[in-house]
Amino acid sequence: PGPAPEELLEIAVRVAREAAATARRMRDEAIGDVQTKSTDTDVVTAADRAVERQVVEALRARRPGDAVLGEEYGGDTTAAPGAVRWILDPIDGTVNYLYGLPQYAVSLAAEVDGEVVAGVVRNPATGDEWTATRGGGAWRDGRRLTCSGETVLGQALVGTGFGYDPRRRAHQGQVLAKMITRVRDIRRMGAAALDLCLAAEGRLDAFFEKGLNPWDHAAGGLIAAEAGMVVAGLGGAPAGPDMVVLAPPGLFPALHDLLVEVDAAGGP
Ligand code: IPD
Repeated sequence: PGPAPEELLEIAVRVAREAAATARRMRDEAIGDVQTKSTDTDVVTAADRAVERQVVEALRARRPGDAVLGEEYGGDTTAAPGAVRWILDPIDGTVNYLYGLPQYAVSLAAEVDGEVVAGVVRNPATGDEWTATRGGGAWRDGRRLTCSGETVLGQALVGTGFGYDPRRRAHQGQVLAKMITRVRDIRRMGAAALDLCLAAEGRLDAFFEKGLNPWDHAAGGLIAAEAGMVVAGLGGAPAGPDMVVLAPPGLFPALHDLLVEVDAAGGP
């Protein structure tokens, strides 16, 4: 058997706290260079890179044999059977970070044989921290989390996000135009990892986004699932780049069918 999820979580929390301190300090002192990546809307700061480097070094020092996949450097896309792969977003919500909006996070998950077993999401601006281990529940400040019990779509507050591809953004705009009259309201807060944690504690009833990367949803997805949410794709597929949908079990079928109806997975 691999290392216990609790042991991996302990490392993840320690490393994420150090990383959050660096992100916060660089935000206060000097954010460094800002560059664009895939499109003009897709930004990366020197802080993203510095935090990622720090986390990779900290993980290598503690567990030299593990694989690491990070947003900025890439890294290991697979790990040997039974081995640990860490999945890291050094700063999720980089645009918020750039603008000084306090909705960004360090997200770090540990995966074994393709299954996320431990995860932490920490907001450096507020100090909020969410954690989970597979089968061990989702937690924040020593409190066990339970997702919303909402079952009525028309009363659901739904979070979502926009990828950076302009054609995908245009399609998402059309999806939201159709959705907005069918749900209580829609939120786009700008950091998927945090959206998933807010859903885990019932501050959003549900969430969906097409085009998320593993580092955006690995830790938050486990936290939401451990808080009782269904975390999946459409048509019985697992959550992945085509679609990540989260909803309480009593709401999931209705949200799923609405997403299919409004063609949320369509477009580029
Ligand atoms: C982005 C944020 C955003 C989501 C995008 C992500 P980044 O991550 O999570 O909310 O809508 O799809 O790419 O680039 O800020 O790490």
